Amino acid sequence: MTLNRLRAGLAMVAFCAAAPAWADDVVTVGLIVPMTGPSASTGKQEQAGANLYIQMHGAAVAGKTIALVVKDDTGAPDVTKRLAQELITNDNAKALMGFGLTPLALAVAPIATEAKVPEIVTAAATAMITEKSPYIVRTSFTLPQAAVPMAEWCLKNNIHKVVTLVTDYGPGGDAEKWFSDVFVKGGGTIVEKIRVPLKNPDFAPFLQRVNDDAPEALFVFVPSGQGAALMKQFNERGLDKAGVRLIATGDVTDDDQLADIGDSAIGVVTTHHYSAAHDSPENKAFVEAFEKANGGMRPNFMAVAAYDGMALLYQALEKTKGSTDGDALIGAMKGMSWMSPRGPVSIDPDTRDIVQTIYVRKVAKVGGALFNVEFASTPAVKDPYKASKN
Ligand code: PHB
Repeated sequence: MTLNRLRAGLAMVAFCAAAPAWADDVVTVGLIVPMTGPSASTGKQEQAGANLYIQMHGAAVAGKTIALVVKDDTGAPDVTKRLAQELITNDNAKALMGFGLTPLALAVAPIATEAKVPEIVTAAATAMITEKSPYIVRTSFTLPQAAVPMAEWCLKNNIHKVVTLVTDYGPGGDAEKWFSDVFVKGGGTIVEKIRVPLKNPDFAPFLQRVNDDAPEALFVFVPSGQGAALMKQFNERGLDKAGVRLIATGDVTDDDQLADIGDSAIGVVTTHHYSAAHDSPENKAFVEAFEKANGGMRPNFMAVAAYDGMALLYQALEKTKGSTDGDALIGAMKGMSWMSPRGPVSIDPDTRDIVQTIYVRKVAKVGGALFNVEFASTPAVKDPYKASKN
């Protein structure tokens, strides 16, 4: 045998060894998330949430075996895009999941459209994302979904003068617009709208402006991972003692960060779709299994969205009887409803966004630890941005 023929033979063996990844019965799912950098907590929570679903339900579904491949995009959109391309071309991925920040989800939209591969957004939350490809479906939330009930709560609770402070990119713009519009329409006054940079924010000078404005409340959106820094600086500046009430979307009192924030968070009212303290048998089982599988780590809203992203894919595969055709999968996902650890959810067949209960919660100590304790709720909330266009 010549050396060349030997080399060719070895290459063949290597190809065959790699073949199981391409085998018809394996469905490769690419989870692309930031595992390093400022949004690393999102990656960690998403990976744990997706893995837990597979662990609890088994890797077999509709005659197929699910293989989850996790990729770290470090939070850089060009990396997200390259990883999505590689997962589809080299790994034959039949679904992509994750996307820890809005620009990362947007970077993949044209690839999902071209390859006809479902892009299940389990983190990013700017309302318009699902309009960027007919193959995008979302199991996280939208900022208008969370911000509108917060404005409604303020109007009912004697808060008239508010300053808004949001991170200056897609979801922050949504939070600012939808909170302000509803609040002003109901008779409230927005004293100032403040935007802070996404990267390495120093909140101190912005909070000084809030102090000078002396509003009754400060409404905040910052992305998951930045809530503890914001709340610490809010208290260090003495805003709490000056009588400024902090209100926010639940991204700020993130379950992953509450212990870090500490007792100064007690009493903060937020609106969101998931709390680890949600009182249901499904959530109790989810939290217990999650903590057991992850060394005591508490799940946050990112973990539950990834868990539900897998739930959605499993149910879609059952419905298509194992077909991984992108159009068939997206068609199956439209209108799907199930019981999530967060409560009842469904996929709006027109917008491919999640429809879910939004809860009003207050931070309180339960059994020695801080939780977002739900005390009011609005069921079956659709994304208000898309509803306003119809
Ligand atoms: C987003 O970039 O869309 C995003 C990230 C983290 C959040 C919410 C929205 O907590």
